Amino acid sequence: MNLRYTRPLTEGPSPADAHEPSLPYPDGWFAVAFSSELVPGTVLTRPLQGEDVVLYRLRDGTVRAVRPYCPHLGAHLGLGSVEGDDLICPFHRFAFGPDGSCVRTGYGTPPPPSSDLTPLPVREVNDAVFVWRHHDGRAPDWELPDWHTLGSRAPRLAAWEMAGHSQDVVENAVDLGHFTPLHGWGESEVAEPATFDGRSFRVSVRSRERVPLLGESPLEVTLEGCGISRVHVCTALPRFGVRTCAMYAATMIRPAAFQLRQASWLDVAEPGSLPEPVARWLSRSAARLLAGLMFRGNCEFVAQDFPVWATKRYQSPPRLARGDGPIGPFRHWARQFYPADRLRTHVPASVRSTEGSRAT
Ligand code: FES
Ligand SMILES: [Fe+2]
Repeated sequence: MNLRYTRPLTEGPSPADAHEPSLPYPDGWFAVAFSSELVPGTVLTRPLQGEDVVLYRLRDGTVRAVRPYCPHLGAHLGLGSVEGDDLICPFHRFAFGPDGSCVRTGYGTPPPPSSDLTPLPVREVNDAVFVWRHHDGRAPDWELPDWHTLGSRAPRLAAWEMAGHSQDVVENAVDLGHFTPLHGWGESEVAEPATFDGRSFRVSVRSRERVPLLGESPLEVTLEGCGISRVHVCTALPRFGVRTCAMYAATMIRPAAFQLRQASWLDVAEPGSLPEPVARWLSRSAARLLAGLMFRGNCEFVAQDFPVWATKRYQSPPRLARGDGPIGPFRHWARQFYPADRLRTHVPASVRSTEGSRAT
């Protein structure tokens, strides 16, 4: 039957933001920009958990983050400008110094009382800018590790926005069961069982992968997480001397939508059998050639998860099977990043008993 509709019907899986989210906003550090986006003299506005955050850079390179509304009459400071180290409101040109204090009005009169901005905790790590957010306003009580990067070139960057919850990006790193069926890895084995320690976790896997131009190679992958928004994935293809690493940072922007940022680095070992200048030239040429290919490969790899993340729900309790990664211990670890009274999910008794480190 050939049906014709004047308006398209809704069909197919509903996006995750069509329903009430089952996980609340997490607490911690969240990426809101790449460092290279925050050019001195510019003002950026970025979404973070239902609010805007305004970012700018001081002359010495330091990043500042503030809430968006001017204490004077509420104009959005994201429309403002930077003069020297002062943030200037677009409405009446009140100026705010690096510590947030109102240093002058646009009329040459003294600043009114209680007219200072509140700076938000902000860090710049691994070529990205992170802002702290805690549901009860608590100050940062842990710091972001500066994960290693590779090579001498600036990272390749990508960013996406989709329905879903940022925890799924981090959970993906320990969901060892999905790498073969969804991403097409060869058979994988756990090289180092998962450990969960404070705000961090780490797991290593061995597998095989087909690399553009080079062919198939054994693959060694180490996945680390810190906080419930940031993952570092290091891969080594020992057969070709190629190493890559990528940082993934996921930030909730609305109750069931997030932004995902990826920064990727690559390094090709210098062949030891050749004289040093030739070896260096060869390694840099190969890195140049492979960087784009590997980056596109990384983007395509992570994009295979997007339809799943954008339509899935938080399954609790999950019905776990032999062959899954350490999903249960991960979820137990992840609870520390949420307000306990708003976490409507529960953890199975079998998982509650696995405090701290635990293998798959
Ligand atoms: S609203 Fe910002 S200076 Fe008036
Ligand atoms: Fe994945």
